[in-house]
Amino acid sequence: MISAKTIEEIRQKARIIELIGDHVELKQRGTNFVGLCPFHGEKTPSFNVSEVKNSYHCFGCGASGNVISFIMEKEGLSFPDTVEYLANRYNIHVEREGKTKSTEYYSEKKRNYIVNHLAQQFFKDNLKKAPAAVKKYLESRKLRQDAIDTFGIGFAPNDWRQLTDSLLKEKYSETELIKYGVSKKSAKADLYDSFRGRLIFPVHMDSKRILGFGGRLLPDMGEGPKYLNSKETPVYQKSYILYGLPQALPSFKLKKFSYLVEGYMDVVGLWQAGVSNVVATCGTSVTSSHIQKLGNYVTSACLLFDGDSAGRAAAAKCFSVFLNSGVDGKAIFLPDGEDPDSFATKHGDKTSEELAKIKGVGLLEVYIRSLLSKYGVENVKDLQPASKAKLAEEVKKNLTKVENKIEYEELVKEASYLLMVLPEHLKNDVKKVKEKVEVEKVSDVGESDNTKIAIQKLSKLNKEILLIAMTQRAKITSKLLNNSVLCEVLHADVLSFIQSLNEIFSTSSENQKESLMTLLQNFGKSWTEHWKLAHVMLDDKSVNFDKLYDECILLIEKKMIEKSILEHAEMLRSGDLTEEQKLNFYQEKLRLERKVENI
Ligand code: CTP
Ligand code: MN
Repeated sequence: MISAKTIEEIRQKARIIELIGDHVELKQRGTNFVGLCPFHGEKTPSFNVSEVKNSYHCFGCGASGNVISFIMEKEGLSFPDTVEYLANRYNIHVEREGKTKSTEYYSEKKRNYIVNHLAQQFFKDNLKKAPAAVKKYLESRKLRQDAIDTFGIGFAPNDWRQLTDSLLKEKYSETELIKYGVSKKSAKADLYDSFRGRLIFPVHMDSKRILGFGGRLLPDMGEGPKYLNSKETPVYQKSYILYGLPQALPSFKLKKFSYLVEGYMDVVGLWQAGVSNVVATCGTSVTSSHIQKLGNYVTSACLLFDGDSAGRAAAAKCFSVFLNSGVDGKAIFLPDGEDPDSFATKHGDKTSEELAKIKGVGLLEVYIRSLLSKYGVENVKDLQPASKAKLAEEVKKNLTKVENKIEYEELVKEASYLLMVLPEHLKNDVKKVKEKVEVEKVSDVGESDNTKIAIQKLSKLNKEILLIAMTQRAKITSKLLNNSVLCEVLHADVLSFIQSLNEIFSTSSENQKESLMTLLQNFGKSWTEHWKLAHVMLDDKSVNFDKLYDECILLIEKKMIEKSILEHAEMLRSGDLTEEQKLNFYQEKLRLERKVENI
């Protein structure tokens, strides 16, 4: 668990002008700095940064926050990852309490990032001085320099130990190089480079850190499979990783919609054709963790898969993967022999238009169609009664997994239409309303050292968010930790608590209960009481936690607008505005005041 002290230290020590200055050209105006807002397209600067208040505010789009929320938004990182990012940058020691995860775990991750960074430098340098054959390959794939720069594409020479030797010289041990996936050991016990004779696609965590690499075999070079990916390392876990995510963030802000493809070249090819809201899984099928992660940035996604039977089967599997993720999914199947990369090369800057022309199919329909093909028919009408009954039963079983009532009803309606059966036949007699989370009963725990704030002293918002976090498990804790506005306003102790809770909930270890007890003990009696209250409420049918969450978010939104109104008033008072600007500020202030009244 990250201590509240560390969170406070980061809130104070991280230099807002410098951090924002990495992304925005800032000019000093009075005590503030102004620039073009990085969160919406604009031509005249309305993005204000205050060094004194350690905060930013955009008078154009209303974006506002502090250092932590800026990095969360701009780099697309969760709260704990942002803390790690800023701590590294400002050399702040991250104080960790409890033992949810060991200190070695974090220092190992840190070293893994450094090794990846060094490897990335090596691959990039080598692309610059690559043999003509490599340059020719880049040309044949129509790879442009701006894409090479944006995605950091590199080249691993077809040599055995160049990278390994240079890393050993930097005092990284053999064991480490193997653990971080840059080197391998042969049967004869010789160490050699994992990637040889390959075009390298680094997988970015954010604009600075690299998680791992994918390498494409170059013609007449190297050996092995066409694509080779980093093995699982402390920072590279393929079932979570979305290739191209940091590069896609700006367009996610505008569109809240993502394409999901299978290959590195597909992402880069589409990006070159102006379609930048796209990510890929790295040589693995789509998992619910992938979609949950994507759900932090978009509300809907479209799979862009091959139209062959493998592509259709892969898309069909995604139906249940998308369930309960809060992300709507559909699929587009490309014409025979086409993949997203070749499609983009063919259509150039018309790609976006051409994609829009292909009708997307909802994932439920994709799933049902694939079931039909299992029964050897193309059309529901051709199913014999017994087969139809079996097929409907299978669909029904899958639909019962849907937790949200409205989503459930909608899917039942659609399935009944597609299968031509009555909706009630697709429903269970008693639909389980949301599987009840296993209640952790805690007995009284010992006293803490009392360094944590007492629950009574927290604001209503903090208390309610805690109730939600305590009862709703990993899905909600990770959602909370990805909400930059929440992470800005919550008390440091509350953030620290939710972060540990998330770690505990997301590991399925047997000593979960023990970890929970230790955590509560650490926070003291009032927190244990709050935990008990939360679980009493969970048994009370009249309490709706989903609604409570929405209300909290609304309350924060209200607070933010109120803050914005104050900032507008301040600007109006400051005087150095033209008449036209004054009028604009005045009107915007009125609009915000009206908005608040309606919340
Ligand atoms: N892949 C992989 N390992 C392989 C083959 C494929 O990890 N042995 C992954 C890669 O991420 C690859 C994606 O699956 O990008 C799609 O594979 P494929 O369609 O074979 O490759 P393309 O992306 O079309 O590659 P290229 O255009 O470079 O031939
Ligand atoms: Mn291809």
